[in-house]
Amino acid sequence: MATEALEKKLRLRERRYEVEQLIREKRSEELEALEEVFDKSTLMLVYKLLNQGHLSHIHGCIEAGKESKVYLGQDFDGKDVAVKIFLKATTDFRQGRMMYLEGDPRFQRIKRDTRSLVYLWAQKEFKNLQTAATAGVSVPRPILVRGNILVMQFIGEKGVPAPLLKDTGPQVTATLYGRLLKEIRLLYQKAELVHADLSEYNVMMWKKKPIMIDMSQTVSLSHPLSDMFLRRDLANVNSFFSRHAVDVRLENHLHDWVIGRDAD
Ligand SMILES: Nc1ncnc2c1ncn2[C@@H]1O[C@H](COP(=O)(O)OP(=O)(O)O)[C@@H](O)[C@H]1O
Ligand SMILES: [Mg+2]
Repeated sequence: MATEALEKKLRLRERRYEVEQLIREKRSEELEALEEVFDKSTLMLVYKLLNQGHLSHIHGCIEAGKESKVYLGQDFDGKDVAVKIFLKATTDFRQGRMMYLEGDPRFQRIKRDTRSLVYLWAQKEFKNLQTAATAGVSVPRPILVRGNILVMQFIGEKGVPAPLLKDTGPQVTATLYGRLLKEIRLLYQKAELVHADLSEYNVMMWKKKPIMIDMSQTVSLSHPLSDMFLRRDLANVNSFFSRHAVDVRLENHLHDWVIGRDAD
């Protein structure tokens, strides 16, 4: 055990030296690519994660949205991780997202300036993933959050992310529909959360199982609009599966079953 710890310490020291060299010489393509996109405080955070051994590498961007970018990274043991970096909030972002925060008792005393909001957004997703994972819901396991950076389990294999539900034609069956509904129900009943942005764009397919992702806007049941969000999530799911010729359940019945008002 003692040798293992020592070895790790040495590897860490070695790594720190490497990173320092990289930063000094600005040679690294991975870091250069990041430098074009992110502000100084985000870059400092990435360097810190590398220096502290939370990450050993950060590779290319998997997906670049307007509000976040997701990178493939590796942890200190060389295992793939997903690194989601939240971008600085634009006015649109603030206006669009505020309603998910207002009314959630978990986030009452928050500063409203732009930086704090992006940080909060990352923390919120981390917390939601943690609560969901603890309840046994299939989500990427959260690993750490620092500022606007969230590191989580990578869903996929050998650096290739799993496909989204929207890109999984033949697998879209009644069985899959049933599985996804069970996840939504578990999220509601055990984690006491509503995803609130659920659609075929925020479900990944891994080993025939649906995995819900993108939980920054997920709300607790005490949020005054949680029921409206739940109905919208269910409508999105129904709409996707009926487009794939799956016999879907009536939205009202489905809603009652999810919230446990229904016995079956
Ligand atoms: N844990 C993960 N493992 C692998 N790929 C992921 C993971 N999380 C997200 N992605 C990829 O990044 C994309 C964007 O992630 P998402 O959380 O939906 O962010 P956004 O808020 O930008 O929609 C996803 O569509 C998926 O392809
Ligand atoms: Mg998304």
